Amino acid sequence: MQHNGIGELQVQIFESRSALRDYLSTRRDGRVALVPTMGFLHAGHMALVAAARARGDTVVASLFVNPTQFGEAADLAAYPRDETRDMAMFRQGGVDAVFMPPVDEMYAPDAETVVEVTELSKVLTGAVRPGHFRGVTTVVAKLFNIVQPDLAFFGEKDFQQLQVIRRMVKDLDFPVEIVGVPTVREADGLAMSSRNVRLGAEDRAAAVVLSRALFAAAERCRDGASAEELQEFITKTIAAEPRADIMGVDLCDAETLEPATGEITRPVVALLAVAFGDVLLIDQHVLNPDAGA
Ligand code: PAJ
Repeated sequence: MQHNGIGELQVQIFESRSALRDYLSTRRDGRVALVPTMGFLHAGHMALVAAARARGDTVVASLFVNPTQFGEAADLAAYPRDETRDMAMFRQGGVDAVFMPPVDEMYAPDAETVVEVTELSKVLTGAVRPGHFRGVTTVVAKLFNIVQPDLAFFGEKDFQQLQVIRRMVKDLDFPVEIVGVPTVREADGLAMSSRNVRLGAEDRAAAVVLSRALFAAAERCRDGASAEELQEFITKTIAAEPRADIMGVDLCDAETLEPATGEITRPVVALLAVAFGDVLLIDQHVLNPDAGA
């Protein structure tokens, strides 16, 4: 962390890869921790920053609304932005450097190489949003090559994203430790998301059904419910909310993301993709059959 003469935290902002690399070349004596974001920060992102601050000597955050992971141009155009506020939050969180490249700094017009985790990217969210995870893994691979972090932090909220990135790192031998950070929620249980601001008041109130269904399912799992019973319970609970448009309710092995069936003996993850109006929300919760866990 750097301080200026009047004791205020400083954050350095880089728009070019080469300037960031020059800066980082002076920081390699300690551990470099990376927090990739698309900005419009909330407490969920700040939990990642705090975890990175606790383990890294130099904390780099990236702020880049990555066009290649959006399916529809309208979704990309609607993505909320507030860079001034983001910078103030990064500064308060003790971030040392923010990498904020323009789109043409990240993607040359003639770029043709992508990184794809072929199977894990096809299921669940990947089936609803084809090409989404290819965009994520391509930009994250580029960020890893630009920053060369020792540690990189991702939220469990985007559980499939976290597992896809873990697989990419394993398969391609990236020398980086991936750290998963638990989901931060609003007081009523709604998982914090940059998309939440797009919910109208009635949809915002209705969206609490997601966490309610997940937490109730966790209890039923401890009581010995089967995968099929849990799946039906979660689906019915959410379907009872007329404003919720279910895109996916999946119960998967938390490790492999393969569909869970029958008696539950290992932790499973319940993954939800539910639209309220034109806002697609995702949420997840790991369900553990062991009551003591
Ligand atoms: P973004 O949606 O900005 O999220 C950045 C990171 O914050 C992700 O790792 C995400 O899982 C985490 N996060 C979001 N909401 C959270 C919450 N409520 N609790 C804990 N962590 C939370 O995910 C992306 O950006 C992009 O796909 C990115 C990885 C930056 C690649 O473009």
